[in-house]
Amino acid sequence: MRICILGATGLVGRELLTLIDRAWPGAQLALYASRDRTIEHAGRALEVHAATKLEAEGAQGGDVAFVALDDEFSARYCPRLVELGYRVIDKSNTYRMNPDVPLVVAGVNHRRATAETTLVANPNCTTIPMTLALEPLRAAFGLGEVTVSSYQAISGAGVSALEQFVVKTAGGFSAMAASGDILGEGLDEGEYPGNTVPHNGKTDDSGFSSEERKLINESRKILELPDFGICAQCCRVPVPVGHYENLWVTLEREATQAQILEALNGGPFLRVLPGASGDGLTALTTLDDRDRALVGRLRKDNRDAATGPGGTRWCLTVAADNLRLGAATNAVRVASAWFPSQDPELQV
Ligand SMILES: NC(=O)c1ccc[n+]([C@@H]2O[C@H](COP(=O)([O-])OP(=O)(O)OC[C@H]3O[C@@H](n4cnc5c(N)ncnc54)[C@H](OP(=O)(O)O)[C@@H]3O)[C@@H](O)[C@H]2O)c1
Repeated sequence: MRICILGATGLVGRELLTLIDRAWPGAQLALYASRDRTIEHAGRALEVHAATKLEAEGAQGGDVAFVALDDEFSARYCPRLVELGYRVIDKSNTYRMNPDVPLVVAGVNHRRATAETTLVANPNCTTIPMTLALEPLRAAFGLGEVTVSSYQAISGAGVSALEQFVVKTAGGFSAMAASGDILGEGLDEGEYPGNTVPHNGKTDDSGFSSEERKLINESRKILELPDFGICAQCCRVPVPVGHYENLWVTLEREATQAQILEALNGGPFLRVLPGASGDGLTALTTLDDRDRALVGRLRKDNRDAATGPGGTRWCLTVAADNLRLGAATNAVRVASAWFPSQDPELQV
């Protein structure tokens, strides 16, 4: 098997290398980024090539290509990879809302990746865990409306943003400790350290940022509910990895807490944490279970009119590692529909 990673040096690309070792050990790797170089992975030196080489006549094809680049480079290279004979899974926003391209969450709508499919779009890092949690509820009780508020990690913005965040946080908090500025008044109000900021995507005429529109529109496409009543608000919090989402869910049919937990426990790639207090449900605990979404804090919305144990309005929290479940793991599971994974955890 020959596997290509385009963007192999980035945060998502690096995770893909680890997952490929688990799913398809011994696969031949074709790695690309902006320029030629050697990278170290699991004690091996791996050659990375400039992506422009893929445009050369006689460039070699292969079986599956994972593309982990910014939108403009995805648009440039995905068609070429398909032309070279790869089945392509693109992690950018470029093809997600294209009606001709399936937008796939493994465990929700992977049937859309068929034997004929040559290009799949991988959804946004908040959409994947949220739809994994919503699909069992949709199947069991029907989905009315969903309101979601996200608290997203800095690594969602890529490797340079994450590296700068670590350096600036260390510097900023050292300066606070040295000067006794325990409120953080000396921190930069426009930067991530010690701060919560609106998600910095493009805000359109609707007033919603691109990140908010992704959660709304992608979940409608994946769940195949074009009129799904969903509203989202997104922000970034000063956390390296782990996107955290608070959801207010209205079901079509009444359910008890036990019935909802049972439905969630039957859903793939979820770890359900019982109890409303949220013990063990933090951004950092997503790093202990990187290939599943954590779901918990389930409790009846205090505005639900039902007086008994059942109700239609519920609050819950979903958290997931944005680089793994929210990106690389989903892509590998989608590819496992075509090329079975040796690691059952990565098989859809
Ligand atoms: N981070 C997340 O949580 C997350 C989650 C879901 C989806 N995504 C999406 O996945 C994609 C990759 O994200 P990331 O966080 O891994 O980004 P990243 O850490 O910034 O890595 C970007 C990659 O793109 C490569 N690249 C940059 N310019 C290039 C060029 N001119 N030609 C070829 N390659 C080039 C970089 O190679 P060099 O090292 O050579 O510059 C690097 O390998 C993005 O579309 C992002 O929106 C990210």
